Amino acid sequence: MKKIGAGRQAEVYEDDGLAVKLYNSSVPIKHVEYEAYISEKVAQSCLKAPRFYGICNHDNRSGLKFELIQGEMLSARMSRKILHIKRYAKEIGILHREIHKNSITTLQSANDKFEWRLRQYKNLDTDVLNSLLEFIKTSYTQSLCHGDLHPDNIMIDKNDDMRVVDWVDAYRGNPLSDVARTYYLLDHGVSPEKKSCIVRFIESIAKKIIAKDYLHSYFENQLIPKKEFDMWQLIIQICRCTDGIEEENEYLQKSIPTRINRLMSSIKRSKVYEHN
Ligand SMILES: Nc1ncnc2c1ncn2[C@@H]1O[C@H](COP(=O)(O)OP(=O)(O)O)[C@@H](O)[C@H]1O
Ligand SMILES: [Mg+2]
Repeated sequence: MKKIGAGRQAEVYEDDGLAVKLYNSSVPIKHVEYEAYISEKVAQSCLKAPRFYGICNHDNRSGLKFELIQGEMLSARMSRKILHIKRYAKEIGILHREIHKNSITTLQSANDKFEWRLRQYKNLDTDVLNSLLEFIKTSYTQSLCHGDLHPDNIMIDKNDDMRVVDWVDAYRGNPLSDVARTYYLLDHGVSPEKKSCIVRFIESIAKKIIAKDYLHSYFENQLIPKKEFDMWQLIIQICRCTDGIEEENEYLQKSIPTRINRLMSSIKRSKVYEHN
């Protein structure tokens, strides 16, 4: 079998015209079954996802069989074609809008997903937690959300179309939550590869441009619902913090308290306004 990709918990091989995602033996079978369930449901409702062909076993490793997408990862393409990054950023925005047009009832809801994650974060006082949970509840919709859309999970196929892999974090919810996560990953997500300071610096400028162009393209250059988007950014950053990614910690430790203070002041202001 020829290796065609790798992630944190699995390697992906080409085998007999299919893509086979083989998990490290430390990954519990429950996790593999959960990804199988999601992959099947998503493939039924979204043409951007690869078709799913079931669970398999290879050399005592559990695996999932998918349609093989022949092409290149978007992250690789963007590094090769640095002059075209703005175009690709816009295409990610269009792709994401396309995904959100699907409505799905069979995946976990954003309410469950985010409530569980927010409760893992121990530095939230009860008022803030309750405001965030209330916000999540009232803004609930049933759109298909990928949950981890970034250029390593997007492939450019032979027809130059974008396809999307790795749906294990998918859920049903408000598209803005998913946009906030992608915006965060494009702007601040750090790959584990070691790079020099200068490369990191140039990358950080490119990332800002990509994130901004993605966002404007998603909203088709219309006004961005700033208040709601700010709330989702805070929620997404808190959830990201509980992932414990060391390279992003410094930024998150500064950004989260600032965002919480802003939220609390705006709640106080609206209470004074109501009182008057
Ligand atoms: N269906 C597929 N066809 C072709 N390549 C794939 C397919 N699924 C995954 N890959 C490749 O394998 C890599 C890792 O797969 P992914 O599902 O994202 O694993 P992880 O969950 O570990 O991130 C992807 O970035 C992509 O390059
Ligand atoms: Mg992946």
